[in-house]
Amino acid sequence: MSEALLQVQAIDVAYGDIQVLHQLSFEVREGEIVTLLGSNGAGKTTTLRAITGLRPPSAGDIRFRGQSLQAVPPAARASLGMALVPEGRELWAQLTVRENLELGAYGPQARPHIGRNLERVFTLFPRLAERQKQVAGSLSGGEQQMCAIGRALMSEPSFLMLDEPSLGLAPLLVDQVMKTIAELHAGGITILLVEQNLHRALEVSQRGFVIETGRLRLQGSSAELAENPEIRAAYLGL
Ligand SMILES: Nc1ncnc2c1ncn2[C@@H]1O[C@H](COP(=O)(O)OP(=O)(O)OP(=O)(O)O)[C@@H](O)[C@H]1O
Ligand SMILES: [Mg+2]
Repeated sequence: MSEALLQVQAIDVAYGDIQVLHQLSFEVREGEIVTLLGSNGAGKTTTLRAITGLRPPSAGDIRFRGQSLQAVPPAARASLGMALVPEGRELWAQLTVRENLELGAYGPQARPHIGRNLERVFTLFPRLAERQKQVAGSLSGGEQQMCAIGRALMSEPSFLMLDEPSLGLAPLLVDQVMKTIAELHAGGITILLVEQNLHRALEVSQRGFVIETGRLRLQGSSAELAENPEIRAAYLGL
């Protein structure tokens, strides 16, 4: 029985007066791929912002390896082994692929290993090696996603969060992204995957959670969720 790597415990998160997450709780265990599902505006990105510390909860707690993150600023969370591939990639369009990747290597633990980690990223994505001097803004959508994933890997995370990595990609590229996620997992990284591409997400993950207007609606094994009639109706149009 693997222990919980990440524990989200009854968090409330608000933007100003508007509360977006309500007493949300879930866990990710070491070695899992967990999918966080929910329709537009359900609070998926906000959940990841709470975990990375960009939007701290007003109530509840988030623990990583048993330690409360309340007093841990966002930059220090990377040193604990957490990394995020943000929604919409958020690359620096004017900077080269290589410069974008190097920016992922922040923190005293990652800095000394830039060379080694660049090699790893280039082995995983040979396309990025070929294009390392190209500015990120001129990459194709699929290449930008590779660059965003590569940047997150530069801090050598043990826990990787991906916010809708398949968004806007053609089916073949979605396959590639999912394959990459499976490879990273096989290499020992625990993964929290936010997706609206429910079918593909449930294929690659072991468990999943569905949130609805910031509340936990359903949870189960990915196989159970894929068979759930409510989910099939809501997300697959079946
Ligand atoms: N910076 C912000 N200020 C005010 N409200 C916000 C802000 N960011 C998000 N919200 C609101 O919080 C709610 C949840 O947004 P969030 O981005 O977490 O949803 P999501 O599940 O990621 O949706 P999507 O699938 O469209 O990315 C939405 O109603 C959104 O309008
Ligand atoms: Mg979102």
